Amino acid sequence: MQDWNKEIDYLQSTRQRMWNDDYFEFLVRQVWKIDKPVSVLDIGCGYGDLGLRLLPHIPEGSSYTGIDIADELIQKAKDIFKTSKYRTEFEVADLMEYEPVEQYNVVICQAVLRHISRVKVVLQKMVASAKKDGLVICIEPSRRMENAGLFIDAPGYDVFENDQFLKDRWKSEATSGGRDFLIGMKIPQYMRELGLKNVDVRVNDYVEHISKLENGDYKERAGIFIQNYGINEEYEDADYYFSARCHLISYGKK
Ligand SMILES: C[S@@+](CC[C@H](N)C(=O)[O-])C[C@H]1O[C@@H](n2cnc3c(N)ncnc32)[C@H](O)[C@@H]1O
Repeated sequence: MQDWNKEIDYLQSTRQRMWNDDYFEFLVRQVWKIDKPVSVLDIGCGYGDLGLRLLPHIPEGSSYTGIDIADELIQKAKDIFKTSKYRTEFEVADLMEYEPVEQYNVVICQAVLRHISRVKVVLQKMVASAKKDGLVICIEPSRRMENAGLFIDAPGYDVFENDQFLKDRWKSEATSGGRDFLIGMKIPQYMRELGLKNVDVRVNDYVEHISKLENGDYKERAGIFIQNYGINEEYEDADYYFSARCHLISYGKK
């Protein structure tokens, strides 16, 4: 199993460029219609990125609880929220062992189910952790869509070059029963199978365009982009890098 304690820098650099804040606010207010104080449970919370995004947009009096197996990420979350005005709680827990006790108005996760082999078991725990009429929200990628949204303007770059690598990886992961890189597209169906109502799906509208012509911090951002996507370093002097990650946001009511 991947040790996420070692990935704090990766998480922080990718989360900085994952959402348009106006779109997240649109989801909270117009789509999920959170207009009263709510209790939120974030499973696989990492250092609490979703809490940082959600809390400013949900009514005062709301609370945010995060659980994660990685103790250093939980400690980081505690440090980040220590001086904040919000009611927060963090706990180290393995989702495989986790037994839902309390129930929450909103149960949410971001980029967690793609790393887990028994997705339906964990999704069932999310449903069990939601109050009646509570919201269950899963934000998960489909790497196939992500790959199609990637473009690099550099000599020799072939838009299909990552496809074979991912195809081999998906196949081996599917046969070994490990992680599922297509999980984002399967969640809405699983939600329906588990009895959630009003299930729907959106696509995160964030697009990254790093251009020599405009970005003063081009070099730094290009370096992070190349590292995070595992891009061949021969494209490190591209004129621009483009990525539409297309995270899928599935949600339903208990
Ligand atoms: C890609 S990170 C996402 C973290 C956070 N949700 C975010 O978006 O910044 C995946 C997270 O899932 C957590 N995780 C993976 N397997 C887990 C398990 N069995 N129980 C609890 N957390 C787990 C990892 O520790 C890690 O923090």
